[in-house]
Amino acid sequence: MVLFFTGTGNSEYAARFLAEALEDKLVSLNEVLKSGAKTAFHSEKPFVVVSPIYAWRLPQRIEDILKTAEFSGSRDIYVVATMGGKSGNCGKYCEKLCKKRGLEWKGFSGVVMPSNYVVADSMPGEEEARQTLEAALPVLKILAVAIKAGKTIEKTDKTPAAGFLSGVVNPMFNHFAANSKNFVVSDACVSCGQCAAFCPVNNITMKDGKPLFDGKCMSCFGCINRCPKAAINVKGKSENNGRYVCPPYPCKT
Ligand SMILES: Cc1cc2nc3c(=O)[nH]c(=O)nc-3n(C[C@H](O)[C@H](O)[C@H](O)COP(=O)(O)O)c2cc1C
Repeated sequence: MVLFFTGTGNSEYAARFLAEALEDKLVSLNEVLKSGAKTAFHSEKPFVVVSPIYAWRLPQRIEDILKTAEFSGSRDIYVVATMGGKSGNCGKYCEKLCKKRGLEWKGFSGVVMPSNYVVADSMPGEEEARQTLEAALPVLKILAVAIKAGKTIEKTDKTPAAGFLSGVVNPMFNHFAANSKNFVVSDACVSCGQCAAFCPVNNITMKDGKPLFDGKCMSCFGCINRCPKAAINVKGKSENNGRYVCPPYPCKT
């Protein structure tokens, strides 16, 4: 079973590729989070969790799923993380969480995809994004072959100060920055409601035709990047950085 979470589509792209290659079922953790469904997963094949990296670890809500979800059937679990470039010690944290649950740890791999960190990075143009996605495909192929063969995987970057970034900066990021406190909506908003419809944690409600943000944001930046009018911003940070959404993976699933 391939379980994915995504803000801007990279992890869904990777997950769809893997599910197709492994001839396995695809489960959207966005839908699970959004619906509040019970996190109980049964699979006879290994679990493959595909998620973006946020501040050198998995998003807190995805770590929470690893901590609390019921996994039955197979005991094997892999984590594949899509990222702009640096995963820090993410794999070590995933390994610890999974082993604590009595799961058989089969390894971690980061896969470089376009960065969607719109508060600090310029979003890639179409051609740059296409090239980065094309370069990710052979990495995903190698992972699919290894997972299909039941082999362990390991691909961690050599982030300098990885221990500090994942162990110290990540909890600070979750505490102080993973929220929508500074989100603003410009007059360009056309009240389409796509932001609210997408938000995986129901952090957005439409009031008087404008999105209103609550206190549940997990900073996936889906609303900011997916807004057709680029009307949502983190005040003073994302206005001039463009927007990015991954094109859909071309497959039939
Ligand atoms: C809040 C936030 C924090 C991020 N932190 C990192 C990071 O520490 N290292 C990294 O390489 N990329 C980081 N990124 C970039 C994403 O991990 C990357 O673009 C990912 O592929 C997005 O996946 P998605 O399209 O499935 O949401 C971050 C993105 C966001 C939104």
